[in-house]
Amino acid sequence: MKNTVSTLLSQKQSGEKITMLTAYDYTTARIEDECGVNAILVGDSLGMVMLGYDNTLPVTMEDMLHHTKAVSRGAENAFVVADMPFMSYQTSVHDAVVNAGRLIKEGGAQAVKLEGGAEVCEQIRAIVDASIPVVGHLGLTPQSVNVFGGFKVQGKNYERAVKIIDDALLIQEAGACAVVLECIPAKLAEIITNELTIPTIGIGAGNVCDGQVLVYQDMLGLTTGHTPKFAKKFADVGTLMREGLNSYIQETKSGNFPSGEHTYSVDDDIIKRIKKERGKK
Ligand code: KIV
Repeated sequence: MKNTVSTLLSQKQSGEKITMLTAYDYTTARIEDECGVNAILVGDSLGMVMLGYDNTLPVTMEDMLHHTKAVSRGAENAFVVADMPFMSYQTSVHDAVVNAGRLIKEGGAQAVKLEGGAEVCEQIRAIVDASIPVVGHLGLTPQSVNVFGGFKVQGKNYERAVKIIDDALLIQEAGACAVVLECIPAKLAEIITNELTIPTIGIGAGNVCDGQVLVYQDMLGLTTGHTPKFAKKFADVGTLMREGLNSYIQETKSGNFPSGEHTYSVDDDIIKRIKKERGKK
């Protein structure tokens, strides 16, 4: 059964945790879907983990559409949320509605996600009025990395903490169906989760949130270099990949691959005849 906005809301109400993971391609989406993840986020984190940028700012609508289409084809049951990339909604309410519409109509997503609080409420209202569910994103909002001066925990002082709570209430009132809380203290996420009627989905925001989201490369040990404190490694797929790749290289160089088991055969008479015709033994 396809997960929907109502599924996520009823999970909040019943206390069943929501599971969300990122995916950026068909194969990964298929596997996550088969495992029963509730929602798949086509995050603009793809700029970093798929395209090798330093941050999410260069990601375009075309990048997001390309990856969202692939994920949507692989997600039979999971609720697919597509990120709105930097400058696809900040520029105007009109741009926000048009670009959100493209992610649903061309990309096949069921909802869009955008970053920010009070300053994007008009956009959220207009997108929801166009019958498109919107997931908000507060706390460490990576598209504001230049304002924050790096990827840092947010909401650690009183003013910033209250601003995040106020923003959460405002985007709920504007019509958001859920909100991602990234990199904020667990106690702050708890207050927000208790005050909101829509689900909170945490990443580095403690375990009281209504659900969790992780970047799949982080949780499967595929990320090289620094990974944030909250990114628990649930499996070491990176090591498994390296082992497999090294075996392939060794066996190919030694001639042990492909062996008979991985080779097609043909009737000897046919080969004899071809060789004879070509003047060879
Ligand atoms: O882009 C992304 O993957 C995200 C998650 C970190 C929540 O926004």
